[in-house]
Amino acid sequence: MCSIIGYYGLEIAAPVIVKGLKRMEYRGYDSVGVATEANNHIELKKGVGKVAEVNSMVHLDSLPGRMGIGHTRWATHGKVTDKNAHPHSSSSGKIAIVHNGIIENYQELKKELEKEGYTFKSETDSEVIANLLQKNYDVTGDVKDTMMRTISELKGHYAFVAMFDNGQLSAARFHEPLIVGVGLSNFFFSSDVLGFIEYTDDAIYIENGNFAIMSKNEFKILDFNGEAVKYQITKVSKEFADSYKGEYAHFTLKEIYEQNETILKAGERSEDGIIKAADFIKHAKNVYITGSGTSYNSALIAKHIFSKYAKIKVETIMSSELQFSPDIIEPNSILIAISQSGESADVLEAVNTAKNVKCKIISIVNLLTSSLVRESDIAIGMNCGPEIGVAATKSFTSQLAILFKIIEKLSNNMVKVDFEEMSRSISKMLEERNKIKKIANELREISDIYVLGRGIHYPIAIEAALKLKELTYIHAEGIPGGELKHGPLALMDSGVLVIIINPNDSTYLDTLTSAIQIKSRGAKIIGISDVPSETYDYWIEIPKTSDLTYIISEIIPIQLLSYYAALEKNTDPDYPRNLAKSVTVK
Ligand code: F6R
Repeated sequence: MCSIIGYYGLEIAAPVIVKGLKRMEYRGYDSVGVATEANNHIELKKGVGKVAEVNSMVHLDSLPGRMGIGHTRWATHGKVTDKNAHPHSSSSGKIAIVHNGIIENYQELKKELEKEGYTFKSETDSEVIANLLQKNYDVTGDVKDTMMRTISELKGHYAFVAMFDNGQLSAARFHEPLIVGVGLSNFFFSSDVLGFIEYTDDAIYIENGNFAIMSKNEFKILDFNGEAVKYQITKVSKEFADSYKGEYAHFTLKEIYEQNETILKAGERSEDGIIKAADFIKHAKNVYITGSGTSYNSALIAKHIFSKYAKIKVETIMSSELQFSPDIIEPNSILIAISQSGESADVLEAVNTAKNVKCKIISIVNLLTSSLVRESDIAIGMNCGPEIGVAATKSFTSQLAILFKIIEKLSNNMVKVDFEEMSRSISKMLEERNKIKKIANELREISDIYVLGRGIHYPIAIEAALKLKELTYIHAEGIPGGELKHGPLALMDSGVLVIIINPNDSTYLDTLTSAIQIKSRGAKIIGISDVPSETYDYWIEIPKTSDLTYIISEIIPIQLLSYYAALEKNTDPDYPRNLAKSVTVK
């Protein structure tokens, strides 16, 4: 998703901004740009492509001055073009902005501004902010008043940084993340701590509905009515600076390989939160669980394990769907929100809906400084370190580990989860790397993959299909095994590949029957199981372990298969096209 950055300090701004944008690349983007101010003049460079590519073409980092703004764009309004890339300047060129979010009323505002003679160079919604600021600045001549007037006219969700050619920066936050980095001689606005972590680990999290002004002589935070607000400087975790690939070719591979360790660290330092969460859940009238994408798939698994091991019924709700059926949520209940980033707009909206009817919020989140944590009554940290690869891997297994820990507490420790066994089993799966690499070769010419599972293995099948489609761009679908004959069997022929998740448990025989039916239609079959079968063209062996370890072990070979198939298909496993790591717009 778009990243914004603003810098003011003693260093030449452009190289600092380019470095910050590179660190935030993982959020996903298609174009990049930087603008700086020097001697009351704003200069701007931008283009389509990765930060390094655009920089080598137009030399973003050669812009002069000690104040600047930068942006990586993830297109929403307008195509991926140089013109639509940010920053955008006002028609006079005296103000430039970078924006993350969506301005809902941009068409009305644009019409009005055009009537008054302001001109536009892009198709974006964001450009109206620059001209609106200009219009208001021309009237007030004051940055604070200009920001207040402008904000009052904008509808939508946004975080933006505006740079004025008089040497002032101002940034506003409304339902999109905005953080201030406070160094000794370097000051930042940023969407993410990674934008400035190399320079400082002191941060101010700007509250929703506030804006800030930064210049040589002042720094202040105000609410949208212009009243000064008190703020706190927080130390952010330095571990988030530790985002290097090391010996690995890609972050995604590194993150898959970290799971034998991250599974042991899940929920560390959140022990009290886990105990409290279990207590809340035990005494709740209703328990709902929500998330998006992979985090939603964890929620689906939670539903199975909470009822099986703790005899507690939980209802799953896809975060993006809740707004259309808010009545699902009974007042005064518990909502468990799962999110790696803690910034997914859909999840935050679901939380908001639940809070409106006085629900308590328990969050399972990796970024403990995120917006979700601030909206939660209890926040439990995944503690798996930065996940840079856009496709969720280690955060998925850490989410499950935390859910398992909550179950231990719900069962008054009658259920004991063997996390050491889990770690050993993951290591064993990782050793299958070469075998899986060979199987990945099979996916090169395939255009459809189906993943079959039953019971608790069905959410694993859905997660497997999600990983495959994100990383390889091959159409992939998770199917509950029993539904095969109710429709999907029509799709089976020699052109498709089917992955059968077939543990030797109560689902085994039924799933094997489905595999045989598929095989007789000519499809190739990969069996993921603790027992071999001649039905499988390829067998990936899962070690025989306890049930909860087994579920975790099943997803590892599919993460590896997706990664190696991405290499076969020449896609970038870390940054799949059109996707963003942190989906902060709806
Ligand atoms: C899948 C993936 C996405 C995220 C989803 C939610 O590999 O990465 O589907 O799981 O966007 O993100 P968080 O967990 O940050 O709320």
